[in-house]
Amino acid sequence: MKIGIIGLGMVGKEVLLYLFQFSASQEIVVYDINKARTQAEIWDFEDSVPLGHFNHYSHMRVAEDYSDIKDCDYVFVNASIPAKNLTDRRALLAENEKLMREIGQAVAKYSPNAIVIITSNPVDAMTYYFIKYSGMPHHRVLGSGDILDTVRLRRYISMHFDVSATNVTSFVLGEHGNSSFVPWSIAQVAGLHVDEFSKVKGVPLINKEEAMQFVRQRGLDIYNTRGYTDHGIGASVYTIFSAVAQNESRIMPVSALLHGEYGIDNLVIGALSVVGKNGIEKVLEYPLTDEELKLYHTSANFIREAMK
Ligand SMILES: NC(=O)c1ccc[n+]([C@@H]2O[C@H](COP(=O)([O-])OP(=O)(O)OC[C@H]3O[C@@H](n4cnc5c(N)ncnc54)[C@H](O)[C@@H]3O)[C@@H](O)[C@H]2O)c1
Repeated sequence: MKIGIIGLGMVGKEVLLYLFQFSASQEIVVYDINKARTQAEIWDFEDSVPLGHFNHYSHMRVAEDYSDIKDCDYVFVNASIPAKNLTDRRALLAENEKLMREIGQAVAKYSPNAIVIITSNPVDAMTYYFIKYSGMPHHRVLGSGDILDTVRLRRYISMHFDVSATNVTSFVLGEHGNSSFVPWSIAQVAGLHVDEFSKVKGVPLINKEEAMQFVRQRGLDIYNTRGYTDHGIGASVYTIFSAVAQNESRIMPVSALLHGEYGIDNLVIGALSVVGKNGIEKVLEYPLTDEELKLYHTSANFIREAMK
């Protein structure tokens, strides 16, 4: 298996760490405009190999140019201009669109059959632009979407009820950003709607506003204190990769190109999708309430306006 990573900043490094530790990839090629730093990162990773914690060893190398990202099975796109203003991810939009044009055309040329996983923000728009400029089939281009927002929500709900987060099935949908929303009608704990579960466990109802605020604020708090987020997004990206590589048919809110689902057409937005060996196997159209559909459309309009 050959893997290409484009952009080895904070997110790219974490993605590389997961792949290095857990995947059975034979070759990982990394392209970043800062080649010297990329080489030093790889040397640093390689120093851990002789300690023997890894069952296998992936050969890692720096790409001289895009032609080294040739015949990859997977390409991870984390390249970005410096994210100075994360309070509005749309500020990155115009500059990162240019990057997606360059990278999309290069990946289509050298690895046209790859599965592409994108984190660059604003991730819904960047996934759209990548599909547009690469011309690659949209089901093989996945944005990290609302996966990170969703795990934050699950953590909030698990803390509220003091139960394992693995018992929580709830999602954040829509734009990965300020207009995302929680479809509470499908939020469950161990098979019960969250409000039903409150009664069963004898715990107060979840304050829905507060939960949404937690989801939005957590990323900002991390970013404002550390200057970047990497662990949660690295794990999220690896989860997408595993779902494809192991053909898990796992349902996740990735950034997917919609074709009329939820009444949204020709737009990439966080949507519940079955992820398996072909990438996005199917976008699922859940029976949301009228109010939730309204929130979905507001979020879609927000992305559309930003891309104008
Ligand atoms: N989707 C999510 O949930 C999520 C979470 C965290 C970060 N992000 C986004 O991921 C992106 C990366 O974040 P980061 O913290 O790693 O940023 P970073 O600034 O640390 O890294 C960006 C990297 O891209 C490289 N780069 C710039 N132009 C390039 C080009 N033309 N070709 C190859 N590489 C190029 C830079 O040299 C740098 O190493 C940002 O857009 C950020 O907002 C998304």
